[in-house]
Amino acid sequence: TPSTATKSLVGVIDEGTSSVQFSLYSVPYFKEVAKYQIDLKMITPQDGWFEQNPLELMDAVYECCEKACAQLPTLGYSVADISCIGVTNQRETTVVWDSRTGQPLYNALVWKDIRSEQSVDRVLSKLDNQDKNHFKHISGLPVSPYFTALKLRWLFDNVAEVRKVHREGFCKAGTIDTWIVWNLTKGALHITDVTNASRTLLMDIETLHWHPQLLRTFKIDRNILPEIRSSSEIYGPITSDRCVLTGVPISGIIGNQHASLLGQMCVKPGQAKNTYRSGCFLLCNMGERPVISAHGLITTVAYKLGPNKPAIYALEGSVAVGGHALRWLENRVRLLKDFTQAEKCAEEVATTGDVYFVPAFTGLYAPYWRKEARGLIIGLTQYSTKHHIVRAALEAICFQTRDILECMHQESGFQLNKLHADGSISMNNLLMQLQADTAGLTVFRSQVTDTTTFGAALCAAQAEGIDLFNFHPDELQYDVVDYDTFLPTSTDDERHHRYGKWKRAVERSMDWVI
Ligand code: G3P
Repeated sequence: TPSTATKSLVGVIDEGTSSVQFSLYSVPYFKEVAKYQIDLKMITPQDGWFEQNPLELMDAVYECCEKACAQLPTLGYSVADISCIGVTNQRETTVVWDSRTGQPLYNALVWKDIRSEQSVDRVLSKLDNQDKNHFKHISGLPVSPYFTALKLRWLFDNVAEVRKVHREGFCKAGTIDTWIVWNLTKGALHITDVTNASRTLLMDIETLHWHPQLLRTFKIDRNILPEIRSSSEIYGPITSDRCVLTGVPISGIIGNQHASLLGQMCVKPGQAKNTYRSGCFLLCNMGERPVISAHGLITTVAYKLGPNKPAIYALEGSVAVGGHALRWLENRVRLLKDFTQAEKCAEEVATTGDVYFVPAFTGLYAPYWRKEARGLIIGLTQYSTKHHIVRAALEAICFQTRDILECMHQESGFQLNKLHADGSISMNNLLMQLQADTAGLTVFRSQVTDTTTFGAALCAAQAEGIDLFNFHPDELQYDVVDYDTFLPTSTDDERHHRYGKWKRAVERSMDWVI
């Protein structure tokens, strides 16, 4: 039984798009001790609109903390053993609230919400070149509904209460990390970290400060925005009476995809990971220099492990619809009873029978950034079955990943011949093999299933001077994490031919003017 005198646990609040989870890990080997998870509701008032209730989200955070901590006594621990917590979160999702009451002024606008398309058009129409990449050299990002600035713009343009509370001087805004920390500290901390701030389209990617020209362009008042901090420092203690963790310091904040890059130990330039969940997020560590992409990738801060540590950058390619295509086949089209059966279903056939599926439900993200693209399934014949379509859905995830890898090759200057994989959908062995085959590289699937929480725990632990896994990013050895390996079995010709057809299918999805 561990001594209660030594603080031996690190906690992580992992707030993702579909669930909140609080987990506790023992030091130094990151063994999961307790965990509690609650699924979150998605509110979809219209096609392309995705909202979440910020108060329900906080209720879920408090409940997860309480229920996970309730497991501790029987395991020989107590809340007093928790030395610190880290927060990791879905990025870009935007909340505005009244700082007097703590009441949200609208539901959170979730990252994949595309209601601000017209705001994008308005912003672009005012630029001489009308180029969506106009601010890329400052922010690393294209102008897209994906990012926080556009969501904030929509809230100010369309919600009278937001404008009113702002006029009164009490409107606060932030991404989900900011909302959680503000609540946990009873409003004492209005902060975000560099990784989350780098997703707002308001931060200067070099100076790591809010950028005046971007604030002017999107007409965002600096005063409503949080202070930007590093991803690993002692920000302050939890003080909320609603949280069982009162007194525990918050010492890590990091966006979830950045956390999994760190959790996959991709700490050297040229190391890349792809997280396969509802969307896919491929990040390649680029070291201390931000590389601005000319081919549709995003430049983002990977992490900054302390106020005086350098920012480490990454190139990122995001795929809006990854595993979500499988859910769509389950819930909407009912080709699958359960999306987790996709592997079994697709294995019934050896190929897709030349069927291609472009799941551009909300447009296409990297490297195309075409918000008007729409999904298609092409190549159907009278012999096509659900097995071919499900297999094509799996391949679509892999082809979209290859689209990104192609750009990464060109822009990073690194020869990417291996890819680290994680995320719930990566449990699908066929998907991992198809990925190796479509991209012609070796896929290493992490056996640490929760690389995101691991990354966030590393941030929190490091700030507290706790050696988690003997983590020293400069000297890190790969072999702290075990991997399942998937080697490519396809020939160059096969890959070339199939990828060419995929590109033709994508072209057609972009033709679909709505
Ligand atoms: O950019 C959005 C991303 O952070 C969402 O991640 O895993 O919650 O779908 P996830």
